[in-house]
This record gives sequence, structure tokens and C-alpha cells, in this order.
Amino acid sequence: MKRIAVLTSGGDAPGMNAAIRAVVRTGIDLGWEVFGVQHGYAGLITGDFIPMSARTVGGIIQQGGTVLGSARCPEFMTLEGRQTALQQLGAHSISGLVVIGGNGSQAGADVLAQMNFPVVGVASTIDNDLYGSDITIGVDTAVNIGLEAVDRLKVTASSHHRAFLVEVMGRDCGYLALMVGIAGGAEAILIPELETDPEALAIELRGAYERGKAHAIVVVAEGATYDAEALCKYFEANRDRLGFDLRSTILGHVQRGGAPTAQDRLLGTRLGAAAVECLARDQHGVLVGIIKGEVVTTPLAEVVTSKKLIDLSLFALARALAE
Ligand code: F6P
Repeated sequence: MKRIAVLTSGGDAPGMNAAIRAVVRTGIDLGWEVFGVQHGYAGLITGDFIPMSARTVGGIIQQGGTVLGSARCPEFMTLEGRQTALQQLGAHSISGLVVIGGNGSQAGADVLAQMNFPVVGVASTIDNDLYGSDITIGVDTAVNIGLEAVDRLKVTASSHHRAFLVEVMGRDCGYLALMVGIAGGAEAILIPELETDPEALAIELRGAYERGKAHAIVVVAEGATYDAEALCKYFEANRDRLGFDLRSTILGHVQRGGAPTAQDRLLGTRLGAAAVECLARDQHGVLVGIIKGEVVTTPLAEVVTSKKLIDLSLFALARALAE
């Protein structure tokens, strides 16, 4: 009988629990033993392994976050930390590991693969900045949470003819902002991939009012050249000249905390099961992701050395539709 382990690492993402459940139940279905590693790579180093059964993953598919806990683990960056992790895996007779997470987590998985440990990654991050998957676990829920905020802000912004900034997560990637902005019908979207010019933004917003709009909503990616705080300061300092100020709502971690949408549950389920199927056919050192609707594998070495780019034609579309 084979023993495998599963961990979640980095920022939690809604749908991670669906992936854990799929890993556990697919493994059990194959007649294997499955262990959960608590708190990501930190638990791998400390040997925080718990046996998982079909019942321990019951009732979690609809929950956000991760029942295994997650962490960012600087210790795993050191050779000593990695060697300890490998020793722990050996001591627990684990012969395969599934790592559910984003870029940092998959970089850790790649290191383990290079140390000849059989590991399979599952593409999971709300940022959607991971190469090897068109869409990652958590993105759909995070977009919908951002969208709900925009919809609500539009109501109060219209009542007061105000301009609002909504800052969304995404680290250095503008995907979430772009999707929230397009789906929410924002007047402007600011993303890290394109330089932000506060003066140009002021002209855009003034234009929106001149065209008869009752509000102006700007979706700002946290990694944009000017984030919400910096923009507010800029507009405040130049209020007399620019003619209005901006109110801001920073979603922060609220955006990660939702119950997973159907899409994220389905994605987590498909990718979690596919990761175990990879281990079953002795395929490892890969990330499982979804490309053009199909589950695909990409070598971890390629994942960690490649950059996923956002489709900037969507930015042009958003601008055109902000009329
Ligand atoms: O990578 C996911 C993410 O939520 C990013 O969007 C954000 O920049 C970061 O994690 C926040 O990290 P932490 O939860 O460690 O503050």
C-alpha cells in the first residue's frame, strides 16, 4: 500500500478544501493511506502529519480557507529546512506529496522534485498568476467577492455622485482587478502591468461625470504603481486643481475569505483528483492545472521559470465599455 501526503501552502484560496477532499478520497479509492500535513511546509519540517479518512474531509467542500492550515515558511528556503522535511517524509514512509498552492508553494515543490522526491503541484492562488493553468483555485470566488463590493459601492456612490476606489488583491498581477473591473462596469481599472498616471485618471473620472454618470468606480490592483492609499493622498494634495477627492475601500483579506463558488469547488475537485492520478502512474515533478478546459500537467521546472501574462486586450475592452 502506498502512503501519500497533502499540504496547502501560501495564501489560502477558496476551493483548497475541495482539492484536499479530492486528494484524500481519490487516494483512499486507490487503496492508499493519505496524510494531511498541517500548516504547509512548516508542518513538513516539524512532522505535523495527521491521518486523513474519507470522513475527516466530509463537509469541507463548501468551506473557504484550508482545513490543513497554511503558512509562508522561510525555514523551508534553507537547505537544512528542506533536508529536515525530506527526513520527516521518510520517517512517515510517505512516497508521494501533493502541494496545493501558488508560485511560492510550487517553487518549494520544485525544490523537493529536484531532491528526487515524488511531488505533484495543484494550481491554487486567488492571484491567477501561476504559469501552467489558465485559471487557478480561488480566483472565481475572489472575483465574485470583489464584484459584490463594487456593486454595493456603486449604489452609495451614485446617491452621492462620489468617486470610489476599490483596491483588490493580486500581488503583482492585475488579473483580479481586470476581471472585477470589467464585470462590475468600472469607470477605470489600474493594474501593475500598466503605468498609473493619477493626472490621466483624474481626466478620465471628470470625463465620466461630464458624460452624465452619477458615480465613478475605479478598481485598483494592490500592486499598481499607485495603490488606493497613494492615490487618495495624491488626489487630496491636489484637490483644488483636480476638483474632487476619492474615497477608498481596500478589500484586503476579505477577498480570500469567501465560501468557494461552484467553479472553485469543481476546479479544486478536478485538480486534486488529477494530482493523485499522476502519482498513481508514477508521474511527478509536475503541476496539474487547467488549460482550455482540460486538465494538463506542466513540469514544475517550467512553471517556476515562466511568467503568466494577462490578456491586455481585455484592458482595452474595459476602457471601451466604460463609456
Ligand atoms: O497570493 C495571495 C495573496 O492573497 C495576494 O493577493 C496578497 O498580496 C498576499 O497573498 C497577501 O499575503 P498575506 O496573506 O501573507 O498577507
